[in-house]
Amino acid sequence: MTDWSISTLALSDWPKAQTPRLQSEKTEALIERILEWLTPAQKVGQIIQADIASVTPEDVAAYHLGSVLNGGNSAPNGNQRASLADWLELADAFWAASMRADGPRIPILWGTDAVHGHNNLIGATVFPHNVGLGATRDAELVERIGAATAREVRASGMDWAFSPTVAVARDSRWGRAYESYSESPQLVAELSAALVRGLQGISGNENFLGDTKILACAKHFIGDGGTHGGRDQGETIATEAELREVHAAGYYATLEAGVQTVMASFSSWGGRKMHGHKAFLTDLLKAHWGFDGVVVGDWDGHGQIEGATPTDCPDALMAGLDMYMAPDSWKGLHASLLRHLESGRISQERLDDAVRRVLRLKMRAGLCTQPTPSERALAVRGNIVGCTAHTELAAVAVQKSAVLLKNANNVLPLQSNQRILVTGPAADDLGMMCGGWSLSWQGGNLNPTDYPHAETFLAGIRRVGQEHGGTIIYSPDGRIKDSPDIAIHVFGEPPYAEFRGDLSTLDFQPRDKKDADTLKRLRKAGIPTICIFLSGRPLWVNPSLNASDAFIAAFLPGTQAGALADVLFATNGLDFSGKLSFSWPQYADQYALNMG
Ligand code: BGC
Ligand code: BGC
Repeated sequence: MTDWSISTLALSDWPKAQTPRLQSEKTEALIERILEWLTPAQKVGQIIQADIASVTPEDVAAYHLGSVLNGGNSAPNGNQRASLADWLELADAFWAASMRADGPRIPILWGTDAVHGHNNLIGATVFPHNVGLGATRDAELVERIGAATAREVRASGMDWAFSPTVAVARDSRWGRAYESYSESPQLVAELSAALVRGLQGISGNENFLGDTKILACAKHFIGDGGTHGGRDQGETIATEAELREVHAAGYYATLEAGVQTVMASFSSWGGRKMHGHKAFLTDLLKAHWGFDGVVVGDWDGHGQIEGATPTDCPDALMAGLDMYMAPDSWKGLHASLLRHLESGRISQERLDDAVRRVLRLKMRAGLCTQPTPSERALAVRGNIVGCTAHTELAAVAVQKSAVLLKNANNVLPLQSNQRILVTGPAADDLGMMCGGWSLSWQGGNLNPTDYPHAETFLAGIRRVGQEHGGTIIYSPDGRIKDSPDIAIHVFGEPPYAEFRGDLSTLDFQPRDKKDADTLKRLRKAGIPTICIFLSGRPLWVNPSLNASDAFIAAFLPGTQAGALADVLFATNGLDFSGKLSFSWPQYADQYALNMG
């Protein structure tokens, strides 16, 4: 049997975290009373989260499940394009199941990956991914994005966002690099705390976890951004001091901001998977840092620890996990946990502590005094999701996140009355602008009707260009009869998420140099060319950089990408203000190019 007392951490070297003291005697006493009358099966149910694709309201009632999530590909009736009304109806059904008179009547908690706006919902405002927000270096803006996201999540009847990602990505080959604000621990700390304040409100203030707020989640604890070779879910190559100084930065900051949940990482350190690492989950996070919220697992991640399967993993609980994310494995897990409780393999004390944390979370989130989701503050109002205030905020974020890498002969800003050729595979492709975690897990295949308020680059350049008396000619492959005054080529990475985005080289197009070829052709024809490059990370693009006059890193700007056109034309004196938050490689093999 595993020896849970083993701690590989020198805890006295780790600074304390300024976790706000939020406990009240009254609530704690109430929790103890509830704990007394819950049955073992009800307790085990509370610490399990199932995915809506694999669980019904009936199951929630029968097994007393504490939480549901919608994974990146899950939606009501399996319909990714489900309406706001469909989401609310399902939220009501789960809530009603958890509140049935024949059960413990503990309201269910619904979590979603609102990682750049409420991105799973049709019609939502999709903000730039974190890599772009890092380039804005604007914490106030990020806080406002958090507040807008909370309102849209609330509008659809959910309670909890699995964000911010506080990973400090140290190798840009990682398929999740774009979920990271920066390679710089300080910047990650600053922006992730801001997002938490926006999502949850400010701890100590009246609006903290109030009617317009949701729960946040700092993820993935700990070291996800430091895995070997940038391999997703891999082994973190770092000394304990590096974990403390680099990868822990976002935890100090978000804990101080009062973040209520922390997600365990798929990755491992010292050969041990984080889901089973008691030294981190319990000794560091809970004991040393005083975190009294919930440690949630990641998508069957508990099943990856030694000797475990998704349906059988007592060790994760004993290591300090409080809620298993068991999307499709929840039923088997429920049975095995009950068995392990009877055999003594899991202790009553640890189970009670996990349930206590889940109950505390629900009370802090105000769930116990809330009506059914569709009757809550923002849900009844249909004018929140994708509203003008939010899309205008997203437009500002797009403008502030773009980084100008090159501007030879001052081709920018664009002049009035020009004939402008817009080319490239991404000019009018919303999927490429939004990247992964956009309507689906991997993203892509987005229709204009999915986000009626969206503005692609092409649409933005048309809008602003025409105001300036320009003529806009669109040709995806860049071939036209009459020569334009200037060309704008929009291109970049296809959408991806998680391990599917892992790379072996930072060379943008290692085999075909399609885009560089188009650019060379334009150059030969004597047409000045501006590149707008969409990517989730810095990539080696020297052939394109060299073949163009101006080059803009626009990252993954989201639905309001077209707002960049105002910067291109310097509308109202707008200028490029974004600064790279990741080092840009000079050579294709500079994988781990970090400041300092
Ligand atoms: C990801 C998490 C995400 C979860 C739920 C996992 O695969 O690692 O970041 O929150 O799925 O979709
Ligand atoms: C889910 C994601 C999840 C991923 C993990 C997908 O099917 O939709 O939410 O993160 O699986 O592998």
